[in-house]
Amino acid sequence: MNRKPLIAGNWKMYKTKDEALAFIYAVNLEVPDKDVVESVICAPAIFLRDLVKREGENLRIGAQNVHYAQEGAFTGELSANMLKSYGVDYVVIGHSERRAYFNETDETVNLKLIAAVNRELTPIVCVGESLEIRELGTTDAVVGKQIEKAYLNVDAEEALKTVVAYEPIWAIGTGRTATPDQANDTIKAIRLVLAKLYGKEVAEQIRILYGGSVNAKNVDDLLAMSDIDGALVGGASLDPNSFLTLVKAAYKKQTK
Ligand code: PGA
Repeated sequence: MNRKPLIAGNWKMYKTKDEALAFIYAVNLEVPDKDVVESVICAPAIFLRDLVKREGENLRIGAQNVHYAQEGAFTGELSANMLKSYGVDYVVIGHSERRAYFNETDETVNLKLIAAVNRELTPIVCVGESLEIRELGTTDAVVGKQIEKAYLNVDAEEALKTVVAYEPIWAIGTGRTATPDQANDTIKAIRLVLAKLYGKEVAEQIRILYGGSVNAKNVDDLLAMSDIDGALVGGASLDPNSFLTLVKAAYKKQTK
């Protein structure tokens, strides 16, 4: 199965307006063909409008969160409709930082996934285990449950419009990457859960990214694995050259 790789930068709460725009100008012309690799920057909400206006032919813009309601009295929140109406194409859902600091639960992840798909925003649905779980040896069960809960009431057609990001919490922002084998094994376990829910054929088409200290040094080895379809990248997506190195690595792998 040749799934198109996706490299998504997650800027988190970094950059000023000028820095965000300078990044886009610096990368736009060099981002590889979107028919070969999907390149996405998930930016702070306040930058989205400016970035969408300036995104080049091959770059797409994503948000880092969305509310699950269509509209309503939810001060400070943004709906899928609002994001879509500004030309945003992707949204990160259930990042471990949102789960840890902002009360994101498996239930809200599920509702947000559905809201995003309904509005034709591609959700990048994050799952991942703590170091404690990894050491206990129950990673596959824990991550599998997160997937089952995220995809509750989601049918196969909708599931095909989603992307999963497997991000072990102990590897995020720590410089400690999962080994390619560790990442691939857990991603295979996630694909098995998706196969249980939707059948093998559908599960084989859903892209599953790895995230957690991905950088120019480890990206080739991670992308070489059978089931890793790209990366969700925090720190190494902030610098234009570093981001370009990652998307070019995915392009090279696809075209060799
Ligand atoms: P990192 O972050 O690449 O800085 O580890 C990944 C993420 O949080 O998505």
